[in-house]
Amino acid sequence: MTQAIRKAIRKAPEQLSETEARQALAALAQQLADADRAYFQDDAPLMSDADYDALRQRNRAIEARFPALQRADSPERKVGSTPASGFASVAHRQAMLSLANAFDADDVADFLGRVRRFLGLDETAPLALTAEPKIDGLSLSITYEQGRIAQALTRGDGTSGEDVTANVLNLPQIPQKLESEAPPALIEIRGEVYLPKSEFLRMNAELLAANAKPYANPRNAAAGSLRQIDPSVTATRPLGFFAYGLGASEGYTPTRQWQWLADLQRWGFLTTPETRLCHSLDDLLAVHAELMQQRSRLDYDIDGVVYKVDDSALQERLGQVARAPRWAIAHKFPAEQAQTRLLNIRIQVGRTGVMTPVAELEPVTVGGVVVSRATLHNEAELSRRDVRTGDLVTIQRAGDVIPQVLGPLLSARPADAVPFQFPERCPVCNSRSERLAGEVARRCTGGLICAAQAVERLKHFVSREAFDIEGLGGKSIEAFWQDGLLREPADLFRLHRQAALIQQREGWGQKAVANLLASVEARRRISLERFIYALGIRHIGQATARLIAQHFGTLDAWRSGLDALTQDASPVETALLGIDSLGPSTIESLKGFIAEPHNREVLAALAQELEVLPATAPPKSDSPLAGKTLVFTGTLRQMTRAEAKARAERLGAKVSGSVSASTDLLVAGESAGSKARKAAELGVEVIDEAAWIALLTP
Ligand code: IVH
Repeated sequence: MTQAIRKAIRKAPEQLSETEARQALAALAQQLADADRAYFQDDAPLMSDADYDALRQRNRAIEARFPALQRADSPERKVGSTPASGFASVAHRQAMLSLANAFDADDVADFLGRVRRFLGLDETAPLALTAEPKIDGLSLSITYEQGRIAQALTRGDGTSGEDVTANVLNLPQIPQKLESEAPPALIEIRGEVYLPKSEFLRMNAELLAANAKPYANPRNAAAGSLRQIDPSVTATRPLGFFAYGLGASEGYTPTRQWQWLADLQRWGFLTTPETRLCHSLDDLLAVHAELMQQRSRLDYDIDGVVYKVDDSALQERLGQVARAPRWAIAHKFPAEQAQTRLLNIRIQVGRTGVMTPVAELEPVTVGGVVVSRATLHNEAELSRRDVRTGDLVTIQRAGDVIPQVLGPLLSARPADAVPFQFPERCPVCNSRSERLAGEVARRCTGGLICAAQAVERLKHFVSREAFDIEGLGGKSIEAFWQDGLLREPADLFRLHRQAALIQQREGWGQKAVANLLASVEARRRISLERFIYALGIRHIGQATARLIAQHFGTLDAWRSGLDALTQDASPVETALLGIDSLGPSTIESLKGFIAEPHNREVLAALAQELEVLPATAPPKSDSPLAGKTLVFTGTLRQMTRAEAKARAERLGAKVSGSVSASTDLLVAGESAGSKARKAAELGVEVIDEAAWIALLTP
């Protein structure tokens, strides 16, 4: 941040007097107008996007506090100069995790079993958990510094979110100041923003009366309301907020979730009144059953119950797997179902060529949402369920999941309904399709000559979790592809050469083109994990891409690793298999990807255009275990093998099952056998459990 900007935003909006606010708004209007001119007309930006967003945000926050002071030339009144999303993206101090799901009592029992096993607690040892309604809203992380609200971020991708501070300043259920004599120096409070059902119905009625499009459900309405560019609009939407979680904190550590909820209440937050403290599986299931009963009477949508291990020290020991804590689980309510007529079956081709049958339905309301399309999964499922056009079908919708067709009502089948013939050829490119032995889905063999696959791959490439390029929707990608402007990912970074051509297209003004090109330019520097994820390789989702990126570190290392994978029994393959949660199917996929010459070309072309940033090292890389390969053997007394492995991984070590020349350290518990002998032979360092515990407590 430049000196001038730092000076301009010295004082928090809520500390400004009216005169100071007037002066600040005048200065901001000038600064932002200069920045806009430089950016849009002179093509010579005066400041970074982040600085620009910070100024915009401040301007909005001050206007929200002093609506009467809004200037005629306020940056908020100008159309088209807002950055594409309007909100700055800010990194969370501590990642916002998601939750693993349980769908029935067995899943919950398994969860409790896993927790006990991990901690080495036998069945009779007490274990308290909270059971909290799972609010179906959107999560928000609010930072308080010295007890005052400093920043509010949406969840975003979990690592960074959108800065919605100005909007949150107007929400009555979010305290601007913690009600505490001695608030912590810094604390991130997490919870769920929601729109009461009653308000949702009222708002939709108003929208319909005004001939505007209604929101699909309260959750979308809440998201739409919170993400208003104009905070004074947010202020008119009566959003609620329930607090339940803790992110980073300085000067405060709760000992229990139950205590944390009580502290939140003391500080002025609302917590869900239905939350209970439980001591057994039966207790948890009773809360679930009761909330399912109450569900329709509550004024907020809930889609399940969250169970959390109460003791914070146990939470800390349990840690997390991938993106979810081991100490919590969401026990979902069963999905809602409805019946409707199947009008047609269409085949959709995805980015890996998978041909998915999609049901086109007579529109029907399921769980408050109108559904007109649902998935029929794949060829195998479709023929197993023998769903036919004209059938009355049962459909089901659960949370954010795509609605699905469960099956036909045979008694209501029309006499002339015929079994569906799955096409042998791709409906998009007419290439042959194939269904490999053991696979449930049929695939188009057209590869990138298939427009559907090429376009879907590009859509994935620019998507939010991948390159996150704003201003380039699915329709534009299809059109650009048709016209040859955009055939492979690297073409994106050559679009600036086609600016004049794009501008001639319908719907593409000078500003839209400038915005698109700016958002492409901003992504020329990209993290290795996003890069890998963006390629859309089968089985490689965000979590796996992150693991792979952390394993290889740099783009060059990853590319050489891929090359090595093409040889039989390569050490790279063994190393990858050693990564927790990376299975043989992922490795097969990587091999398949690199074996394809076209993919090599895509990679090479992208490497020319981009600066791929090395992967951020796994957390705590300054620990003595970072980068080391460990093997555990024998019986550990103070923690289970699972906990030991998780602790080692948290400190940046890799844990392997067998001793080899690449092992750095063997931790030998009681009655260690052949592994200890092998380590001695190879000269690998061996330590006992006491030394291992010492390593964990620096
Ligand atoms: S705890 C690390 N508690 O559910 C713990 N989440 O499916 C993460 N949610 O992203 C969240 N009510 O948006 C927690 N009482 C509750 C919740 C809750 C709703 C949401 C939250 C989270 C999502 C995970």
